[in-house]
Amino acid sequence: MSKRLLEQEFPQDPDICYLNHAAVAPWPKRTADAVQAFARENLQRGATDYPVWLQTENALRAKLAQMIGAPSTRNIALQKSTSEGLSAIAYGLDWHPGDRIVITDQEFPSNRIVWESLGSKGVKVIEAGLAGEDPEHNIIAALDDSVRLLSVSSVQYASGLVLDLERLGQACRERNILFCVDAIQSIGALPFSVTDCQADFVVADGHKWMLGPEGLALFYVSDRALDQLSLNQFGWHMVQDRGNYDRKTWEIAEDAKRFECGSPNMLGAYALNASLGLLLEYGLDQVHQELLAKVHLLQAALQQRSDLELLTDLERPQRSGIITFRHRRIAPESLFAQLRDQGVVCACRGGGVRFSPHFYTPDSVLVKAVERIPQ
Ligand SMILES: Cc1ncc(COP(=O)(O)O)c(C=O)c1O
Repeated sequence: MSKRLLEQEFPQDPDICYLNHAAVAPWPKRTADAVQAFARENLQRGATDYPVWLQTENALRAKLAQMIGAPSTRNIALQKSTSEGLSAIAYGLDWHPGDRIVITDQEFPSNRIVWESLGSKGVKVIEAGLAGEDPEHNIIAALDDSVRLLSVSSVQYASGLVLDLERLGQACRERNILFCVDAIQSIGALPFSVTDCQADFVVADGHKWMLGPEGLALFYVSDRALDQLSLNQFGWHMVQDRGNYDRKTWEIAEDAKRFECGSPNMLGAYALNASLGLLLEYGLDQVHQELLAKVHLLQAALQQRSDLELLTDLERPQRSGIITFRHRRIAPESLFAQLRDQGVVCACRGGGVRFSPHFYTPDSVLVKAVERIPQ
């Protein structure tokens, strides 16, 4: 895809510096077009061509499988959000008093609250600290005999710290511990291989690095974990013989579709399918390389400024699309407000201001955003 075509996909308001993909991303043009076309079709023809809609939904499943290197779509379900997926796991597993769950001390609330909510079942949450040179070691050191599940974000939302999932997954396998990854801050930005990291569960909403709308999330469950999850939502859609409405008996679907109880979010499926089409067409490795180049450019520009301090650990072997910094004189909330007033769309996170460009962000936008940081 040429630079010009890429620019056409992101015709963003020139007054805005959009550096907030770690929160909610803008859609590419083809996604906006797909949504408009779907709206027009609904207006004029309703669901006349529903079989075509199902093809689009299946195409989305195939793309999601490709995004995480899953061998089959049978392990993929569509959910509303990352939090919903994590809840299906938390309330699907059979807990016993004394069971422990390990998370980290920097998790987004979605990957903490749901596990803490199991306290009434006698389940305890242990937070492994990520500070220091070897955060993975700290996590693995917490995996004792009472731990049933490790749940981590692949990339920490505030600092952008990237965890070595292969190392963590291997440690879980060796100890027979289930491994859950909240991958919302990496899929669409960094390479992800569910086979390499041996995850049992992967959850990720589509509205960040995947450039999709809110309200549609990837839910992956491994074959070995599928039958360990009991179901808490039921309906016509999660059965094996769906569509046979006259049948009075039913069996739950053999595959991960058992986690989809009712009608799908078809509008969201059209949108996310279009967004992922762009990323896959461009090439996930290319996306990653170009995103890293953007982050390095931002880093260099921020480091030029002696009044700024980078909070993101620059020494880690892998970097994400997130770079967080603070001003030595201006409080983060105030800096964030000043940037917002100047059209720099970013976030106030982790004691600083978080910039999160994507692979397509023009260099000029990065430079302009740093220039708008008050001296
Ligand atoms: C690491 C992480 N997990 C989960 C979420 C929230 O996901 P959802 O709204 O899909 O539940 C966020 C949102 O910022 C996040 O950064």
